[in-house]
Amino acid sequence: MKFFVDTADVNEIRDLAETGLLDGVTTNPSLVAKSGKDFIPLIREICGIVPGTVSAEVAATDYETMIQEGRYLATLAKNVAVKVPLTPAGLKVCKALSSGGTMVNVTLCFSSAQAILAAKAGATFVSPFVGRLDDIGEDGMGLIKEICEIYRAQNMKTEVLVASVRHPRHVVEGAKLGAQVATVPPAILRQLFAHPLTDKGLAQFVADWQKTGQKILPAEVQPLKTRA
Ligand code: G3P
Repeated sequence: MKFFVDTADVNEIRDLAETGLLDGVTTNPSLVAKSGKDFIPLIREICGIVPGTVSAEVAATDYETMIQEGRYLATLAKNVAVKVPLTPAGLKVCKALSSGGTMVNVTLCFSSAQAILAAKAGATFVSPFVGRLDDIGEDGMGLIKEICEIYRAQNMKTEVLVASVRHPRHVVEGAKLGAQVATVPPAILRQLFAHPLTDKGLAQFVADWQKTGQKILPAEVQPLKTRA
């Protein structure tokens, strides 16, 4: 499973990219607004940090403007995926851009019928929003299951990108169901690393190792420079 981080915060992206486990970034207009930065230089900056796919969303809702915005966004860097909303105009843009070889992420997907249309329009990724469905009492992961089944049955190549992730179980369940990608807010991505028994076990190993008085590295090995 690929991990994207769902943020427009460059410091967070830089920090998480250093783990070597980050496969891409997703942004949206709300995340860009939160960052307080100018969109175009921001996308260029993010694309320079992460070699993987960076989703940049169009702002217009009409076909004519969306396609121009999408084409422009695609020129910013090779790793841009143009993000379009799951509307008739958005899917028309998806079809046009994907036919020309541009990666497209179809966002705001809330039903299997919509996901089928996104795949037919040639989307590289479809983004079902699981958290927002859970928020209104529906079953976000049930939707992921159904979309994964349909795409397998129909041999559709669009990747299922689990979005609007609220907790690590969304990621784990998505992986189990065969979703190819999860886009995860930074705090939840860090939660994936954590388990209290890991911390407890490590503290015990460190304490027991200190009791031995030994060192693994010979004296001549210089310490690596650490970050300030
Ligand atoms: O980026 C799209 C999606 O992940 C948004 O999530 O938390 O605003 O529902 P959220």
